[in-house]
Amino acid sequence: MEKIHLGIIGCGGMGFHHARSLSKMKNVEITGASDVDPEKLKRFTQHYSVKYSFVDYAQLLDIKEIDAVLICLPTFLHYPAVILAARKGKHIFCEKPIAMKIEDAEEMIKVCRENNVKFMIGFVRRFDNFWGKAREVIREGTLGRPVVWHDIRSSTGASSSWYFDEEKGGGPLIDGAVHNYDFGHYTFGKVKRVYAATMTFKKGISAIDTGSAILEYSSGDQHIISWSWGLPQGALGAQLIDIIGPKGALIFPGCFDEAKIPRSIDQTQYGVFLLNLKGEGKEWIKWRKNDMFFDELKHFIDCIVDDKEPCVSGEDGKRALEIGLAVLKSGRTGLPIEINV
Ligand SMILES: NC(=O)c1ccc[n+]([C@@H]2O[C@H](COP(=O)([O-])OP(=O)(O)OC[C@H]3O[C@@H](n4cnc5c(N)ncnc54)[C@H](O)[C@@H]3O)[C@@H](O)[C@H]2O)c1
Repeated sequence: MEKIHLGIIGCGGMGFHHARSLSKMKNVEITGASDVDPEKLKRFTQHYSVKYSFVDYAQLLDIKEIDAVLICLPTFLHYPAVILAARKGKHIFCEKPIAMKIEDAEEMIKVCRENNVKFMIGFVRRFDNFWGKAREVIREGTLGRPVVWHDIRSSTGASSSWYFDEEKGGGPLIDGAVHNYDFGHYTFGKVKRVYAATMTFKKGISAIDTGSAILEYSSGDQHIISWSWGLPQGALGAQLIDIIGPKGALIFPGCFDEAKIPRSIDQTQYGVFLLNLKGEGKEWIKWRKNDMFFDELKHFIDCIVDDKEPCVSGEDGKRALEIGLAVLKSGRTGLPIEINV
């Protein structure tokens, strides 16, 4: 079997995480790596026995042997790296969010197309059997339509400081909720309008770290997101995730009494939702647990091998960014934003 030779650009949290999945694939070799931090680069290249390593990723992109790259850089650096990688003819898997600006996302899509390289965005929830099962339940009409998907969570947030910079990472309503924006569109279709209210708890950061948004879809469905990365170290808020509709409610794990899950369900293999229908109509809905990160990268590799287009595109990345920027704008102006994307 011919191997796909990969380069990893950015050997931080996600670079390491993805390399673990790639190292389990028989038709993949991690051939090159790049990180501006020489210590991180050394740790990565030793751990994965990588042949080529560079502090400057432009040098990695000059290696002919490398077929494709994973861009695992802080979000504001995705744009220049994707443009250069595409011009060097490398297939590209780029972590989410695609970029910080719509114009940058548009150019990334254009340059990838012009250079005939695959361009996939890391919306890993598309490969998650857990969220996939919720989507199936909605689309089968079990809850009736329209539905409201509530997603409320709060934490201290991500570890690297760039996540809290409005121009580099954008905070939770860009960086974290971008998965929800993409998955919401995938499930319900176009977003008609967004409303948001935002604030910042943490001192000395430029990004919004706390906010609530309502996304209204043309389908009539709604998504309510209330997220914070503003809690102090050690504090953790409650999490509420459910989807409600005229026929009942689908309750996510962590939001019901797990001691009541029937013993007949093997929880090492299956995850479980509680479905609350009319009267006493309670049901347990299970899905087979999977490694969504592995399945996501396997799809990317298969697309290169079989010359297929990835199921998550640059356009999907651009759209999710547009929704996130509209949420921030609504929070800033106090006005609803009509977007229709
Ligand atoms: N799909 C997901 O669920 C998920 C989860 C977490 C993060 N992410 C995304 O992955 C990306 C990376 O996040 P992370 O948590 O790994 O960040 P990180 O801060 O842990 O790692 C980023 C790495 O890039 C390196 N770097 C910075 N500038 C560089 C340059 N010019 N050249 C080479 N290396 C450089 C840093 O030294 C660091 O090692 C972000 O876009 C983030 O939003 C996705």
